[in-house]
Amino acid sequence: MCGIMGYAGKKEAIELLLNGLERLEYRGYDSAGVAVYDGKELKVSKAKGRLKILKRILVNNKKIKGRIGIGHTRWATHGKPSDKNSHPHTSTSEKFAVVHNGIIENYASIKSFLINSGKNFSSETDTEVIAQLLEYYDNGNTLETVIRTLKDLEGSYAIGIICKDNPEEIIAAKKDNPLIIGVGKNENFIASDITAIISKTRNIIRLKDGEIATIKSNEISIYNMNKDAIKKDIQQINWDISAAEKCGYEHFMLKEIMEQPEAINNTISPRIKNGRIILDEINFSTEYLKKMNKIFIVACGSAYHVGCVAKYVIEKILRKPVEVDIASEFRYRDPIVDKNSLVIAISQSGETADTLAALRKSKQLGARILSIVNVVGSSIAIESDDVFYTWAGPEIAVATTKAYSAQLAAIYLICICLGEKLGKISDIDYDKYISEILSIPQKVQETLALANTIKEFSKEKYRLKNIFFIGRNLDYAVSMEGSLKLKEISYVHAEAYAAGELKHGTISLVEDGTLVVATATQKSVLCKTISNIEEVKARGAQVLGITTKNNLNLQKICDFAFNIPEICDLMKPSLSVLPLQLFSYFIAMLRGCDIDKPRNLAKSVTIE
Ligand code: F6R
Repeated sequence: MCGIMGYAGKKEAIELLLNGLERLEYRGYDSAGVAVYDGKELKVSKAKGRLKILKRILVNNKKIKGRIGIGHTRWATHGKPSDKNSHPHTSTSEKFAVVHNGIIENYASIKSFLINSGKNFSSETDTEVIAQLLEYYDNGNTLETVIRTLKDLEGSYAIGIICKDNPEEIIAAKKDNPLIIGVGKNENFIASDITAIISKTRNIIRLKDGEIATIKSNEISIYNMNKDAIKKDIQQINWDISAAEKCGYEHFMLKEIMEQPEAINNTISPRIKNGRIILDEINFSTEYLKKMNKIFIVACGSAYHVGCVAKYVIEKILRKPVEVDIASEFRYRDPIVDKNSLVIAISQSGETADTLAALRKSKQLGARILSIVNVVGSSIAIESDDVFYTWAGPEIAVATTKAYSAQLAAIYLICICLGEKLGKISDIDYDKYISEILSIPQKVQETLALANTIKEFSKEKYRLKNIFFIGRNLDYAVSMEGSLKLKEISYVHAEAYAAGELKHGTISLVEDGTLVVATATQKSVLCKTISNIEEVKARGAQVLGITTKNNLNLQKICDFAFNIPEICDLMKPSLSVLPLQLFSYFIAMLRGCDIDKPRNLAKSVTIE
């Protein structure tokens, strides 16, 4: 995720900004920049790439001198990584400079309004509209101007602003994106997380949504959107630096598991406007969709498991045949792909060598390529005809969690959108799907509240040597992900089986005390899965059921059960995967594994 750092004090701001941004590097970024008031003007310096490139530019410019400034590390969402798209962004007359984390959902309409009123835009970002809008509303009172501007913004933001006419203060505001104020002695800071400032101060104020702060070197004031002053407590942080990077979580994986409501919301909500899915990035005409006669999904690992979910969802809604392929297999077989095939490449990193090769092969065969990718400007994104970016933010733990969940959300959006275009979804069903998809982040949050119960359960099971995961239909697709998650981080042997397939061989491995994790959420096959649970229980297995709250029959026959909230069957994978992620995490933790960097694994697999 992007990082924000701001400084108001008596020292040279540049040093402190760069120092803070360096501490935010762990979050991942593709460009960086700073803006400092030098006594006359706002001086901005920014560059694509690592911070060292920005530092080199600053040295060549004989640095920028000044005691107030804002800095940013950018993780691209709107517009590729480039010098121009890096933050800070300035208004046309360079009076305001802005750094921003989050997504301004209505930026396109604000941008065209501002262009018509004479503003010149120099980037492709959503953030630049904030700087331009500030100038548009400027009434000489910076606080009022900021409040007026915020009222027009839809979406999420943590913002730091400096204004040439008010050079003593930084203005900060937030909605659905974290922002803290660091309280120092004759100096104050803003930052997107504690890591950036922990070496300078341990006293912080956490801004809440709808609060705006003005920060000077020796004065901090906080207001609500009505410009009423608010009193806030200062909080003391006693984390060490490594805990600060993880926001107090023991591992990045747990942090990322807990970030899933936000990752899914960021992916979904900018794409649903007034109850309609708007996918500006995918230009499929109805004519093309009618001709498209087959869909191939190519991906690796967890992204392949998203493809397995997608097959069920797409075939059910679009009634088009789908083949899901492990990319390393697809690239060396002779797939029957042609110009009427749509190939969907799914990848968090956008750099996985096998997925890229499968994409290139499909392109040669004439297929159209749609990719679902988390990293803007990555190779897979660049080589695709259409790109759907998941806005999960950077994932640091090797085992994917939030990117997987954002990819599932992408599949639902794409499928419902195309289904409607093809006339496969009635108006009533369309509205139902929209309200279900919008409910996912909140239901994910509710499901994550199972963490403590799952931890306690894991304490009884972490010494096991083999665990089986079973399910049917979409539950089978989720079981595959659960099994992979457990294996890769805890090194416990795990197998995922289609529940009906067990009796064709694997059931001979089940003996007294074997743990079988049965995901059973799909109504159409529930009684079939119940029979399979009975079969393994009869052979001595202990069964953990992952099911819905209302499914009392299943809860009764299982030895343990983790219950997820109700949601339509097609979207249950978004919830049922969560107990499996948490279970794997706690088992790995209890076994003392290196959770964020499991042995032999790499985050981005750029070799065959
Ligand atoms: C598992 C995991 C891997 C990746 C796979 C594909 O937790 O992270 O299985 O899903 O290596 O990577 P991307 O999505 O970057 O193509």
